[in-house]
Amino acid sequence: MYKLTTLALLVSISLGALVQGESFSTIRSASPFLAGVPGKDCVASVLHEGTPTGKVVSLGGMDTYVSVPKKPTSGPKKVLLFFADVYGPLYPNMKLIQDFYASNGYTVLGPDYFFGDPIYPHLEDPTFNLTQWISEKVEIANEATPKWLEVVRQNYGVNGKNVKYTAVGYCFGGPFALNLAGTDDVVAAGFGHPAFLTEEQFQNVKQPLLLTLAETDDVFPKPNSRRAEDILVENKAVYHIQTFSNTTHGFVTRGDPAIENDRWSSDTALRTFVEWSNRFTA
Ligand SMILES: *[C@@H]1O[C@H](CO)[C@@H](O)[C@H](O)[C@H]1NC(C)=O
Ligand SMILES: *[C@@H]1O[C@H](CO)[C@@H](O)[C@H](O)[C@H]1NC(C)=O
Repeated sequence: MYKLTTLALLVSISLGALVQGESFSTIRSASPFLAGVPGKDCVASVLHEGTPTGKVVSLGGMDTYVSVPKKPTSGPKKVLLFFADVYGPLYPNMKLIQDFYASNGYTVLGPDYFFGDPIYPHLEDPTFNLTQWISEKVEIANEATPKWLEVVRQNYGVNGKNVKYTAVGYCFGGPFALNLAGTDDVVAAGFGHPAFLTEEQFQNVKQPLLLTLAETDDVFPKPNSRRAEDILVENKAVYHIQTFSNTTHGFVTRGDPAIENDRWSSDTALRTFVEWSNRFTA
């Protein structure tokens, strides 16, 4: 467990400034932000137990966690693009979640857009500047991910009859999944407690979208997620929204399994995404 007090203070100061509309060096948009900059709840974690079964391969310019179904599956091949939170796809919790999705018949690909520099080694450094770290990482990830996707399509095929893609993103990874929901590159997508989402991204949604929300989320607060819901309704999008009581931002990937509500909420959130994906990949 990491000591978060100093960081939390730093984050709340920088988050306060950013969310109140001051400019953010690399993250700009003409469209209003509904989900903001990752904050203190993006960096709290409890390690989950288990032995990861996937492997790390170099793919499309990024180390990628690859977890495959243990049993042969029937029907079209299913590929799940997994966009991790600031802990990265190689963090144990994140690997176990990807393995869980793989055990449900998906080839899961989690690109390390942090290039070996996830947030947790920094958490005990009192001089760590989260604002700077995040803005650098957004820029790098935005640059690397489209190239990675291109190589994924070369290796696994284009979304269509023989291979069906879905995408999921948590926190930092949310916008990557939401962007894909605005394309024909996936058949469905979802996110959990996302950061950096604009109205425009919701306006563009054309694939079924599952929204997994924490009750308390400074990054994607209720008025904003309600606005997102209104946009989806207005546009007659296909969507499902699940909100879990007594949870905070981060509960799906980093909740405390010792707390029944965290455990149940996280497990249910993950299972619902599997069912959501199964509906559109059958
Ligand atoms: C953190 O980084 C941001 C962006 O680079 C900068 O504006 C800010 O002054 C830095 N904060 C501290 C405490 O150094
Ligand atoms: C929310 O969770 C906390 C921590 O587990 C617990 O102490 C509290 O009773 C819960 N509140 C409700 C309304 O269930």
